Amino acid sequence: MEEYVPPTDHLSDRDFRRLGELIQNYCGIRMPPVKKTMVEGRLRRRVRALDLASLDDYCRRLFDGGELGSEMVELIDAVTTNKTEFFREIEHFRFLTAKALPHLQSQPHRPGRDRPLKIWSAACSIGAEPYTLAMVLGEHARTMRDFRFDIYATDICTDVLQKAKLGIFPEDMAREVPNDLAKRYLRRSRDRARPTVRLIPDLRQRVHFGHLNLMDPEYPMDTDMDVIFCRNALIYFDKATQNTVLSKLCRHLRPGGFLMVGHSESVLGSSLPLTHVTSAVFMRS
Ligand SMILES: C[S@@+](CC[C@H](N)C(=O)[O-])C[C@H]1O[C@@H](n2cnc3c(N)ncnc32)[C@H](O)[C@@H]1O
Repeated sequence: MEEYVPPTDHLSDRDFRRLGELIQNYCGIRMPPVKKTMVEGRLRRRVRALDLASLDDYCRRLFDGGELGSEMVELIDAVTTNKTEFFREIEHFRFLTAKALPHLQSQPHRPGRDRPLKIWSAACSIGAEPYTLAMVLGEHARTMRDFRFDIYATDICTDVLQKAKLGIFPEDMAREVPNDLAKRYLRRSRDRARPTVRLIPDLRQRVHFGHLNLMDPEYPMDTDMDVIFCRNALIYFDKATQNTVLSKLCRHLRPGGFLMVGHSESVLGSSLPLTHVTSAVFMRS
């Protein structure tokens, strides 16, 4: 077995602090000292891709060489955590079909019938979350004639958005998709050496992807969303940033609409116009 040789190239404390401030100001993600090893590992890949000598060299170009603007997208792509799964935190999807949809459709303007139901996945990563929504709503449409829906899916990270738009996933990732849904909505690749699945075009067309930084002062999104999923992104922000983001999201949710956050995230204790409905589910009051 080959001996493990630990990397010798490290970020100075000053550079890590400067990078941390830059990243937190730009995308809200906190960079406490425990993340230093992770950031170093990811940025070493950038150092290699740019053919630079060291992390020190990388930081010099970033902070002193005026290359911050052009490198920002790559830097954010390198430091964001994009872990996601189909049917992640499945209770939300159960709640959506069992409670949220019947409730929304009992409202006078009947979203889904009189106009398309609008759902926003506000930190969508490579698309497993919005495509899960597409399958769940596709199933709902089978039980209700004329049911229409649109899913908006945004993220700050450009490389995940490119993957999301393609809608092609390693077959392993589709393990959590129930068999009947997989049969109806996923198509397997012919290449059995690299097995992948792809969502059927009819569902892909219902998901509209776009770039959006939750730190931006305004979101260029409709203000009458019926449901917003903002899951497993807030956890990387500090409390004040979480509150600011949540209050902006509330402006895009119509009264009576639902907000889903990750099960390890909290909205409680804030003065937002939200009523707690059940675990990690809130209603716009
Ligand atoms: C761990 S993934 C969660 C994906 C999905 N919501 C889920 O729960 O499976 C977090 C996502 O948040 C995105 N993100 C982080 N900061 C963001 C910001 N300021 N604006 C928009 N998206 C952000 C990341 O790029 C990443 O794709």
